Amino acid sequence: MADLKSISDHWGTGDVYARIVKAMEAASISPATVTMEQMAPVDHFHARGFPATVELADALPIAAGDHIVDIGCGIGGPARYLADRFDCRVSGIDITESFVEAANKLTALLKMAGQVEVELGDGQHLPYGDATFEGGYTQHVTMNITNRAQFFGEAFRVLKPGAFFALTEHGLGPQGNPHYPLPWSEDGSGAYLVTPVDTVAYLEGAGFVDVAVEDTGAKYHAGYKRSMELAAQDALPPFGAHILMGQTAPAKTKNAARNIEEGRTHPIQVICYKPR
Ligand SMILES: C[S@@+](CC[C@H](N)C(=O)[O-])C[C@H]1O[C@@H](n2cnc3c(N)ncnc32)[C@H](O)[C@@H]1O
Repeated sequence: MADLKSISDHWGTGDVYARIVKAMEAASISPATVTMEQMAPVDHFHARGFPATVELADALPIAAGDHIVDIGCGIGGPARYLADRFDCRVSGIDITESFVEAANKLTALLKMAGQVEVELGDGQHLPYGDATFEGGYTQHVTMNITNRAQFFGEAFRVLKPGAFFALTEHGLGPQGNPHYPLPWSEDGSGAYLVTPVDTVAYLEGAGFVDVAVEDTGAKYHAGYKRSMELAAQDALPPFGAHILMGQTAPAKTKNAARNIEEGRTHPIQVICYKPR
């Protein structure tokens, strides 16, 4: 079983913030004046990027002043977007130290430090009190989570009664055996995919109700295909999420598309609630 250190090493070693700033400058974006819109191609670090965050946000019942938790928040793009859009506060947690550092520095660049705060930690052991948040979400994180019952149990614990919990992930498809490398693992180590049916069972087991599952496979497949077309034309923008994916980014994108086609993975978006 892969330990947390090897999972976080997979996601980001070295100075991720410096890498992002270098790519910004290569794209003629000044860190001193960068806007949330300019950052969006990089800081929504999940399949389909910013449009997927917007779609998820459209479905979430967030009110001004709410305190929301982002579990596995990466470099914080979704947290900053939600905080800005809904005038809420977001606390993020992530196991990858270089992402946490980059997240807080990018938040400072956008002068949002009062609204968004990111800390280092494991989503399976949240450092928050019981019933703290009006809502929580985890975008493309659970593919690396060994203990789903513990992870969802922790999310349930820190949410207030009536709070929402949202999840996007690549579930395991009916054919199983995904091709690697993939964005969340080079060779299958540290990858713990479960089927959408099992995800619902884990969520209900943790106590969540009204679990609504959307199949997002076609949308994700189209997104990966679009990236592959741009890469084939050597037309990927200099400031894009591929700068965080390393040397094997093209193979990861190709396999992600192929796995959906072959029923090896099954992308979903889930929204559920802690009972009142
Ligand atoms: C695909 S990125 C998604 C980042 C962010 N949610 C987003 O959508 O921009 C996956 C993230 O999950 C984090 N992660 C993986 N396992 C974790 C764990 N046990 N606890 C907290 N974060 C974890 C990784 O460090 C990485 O930042």
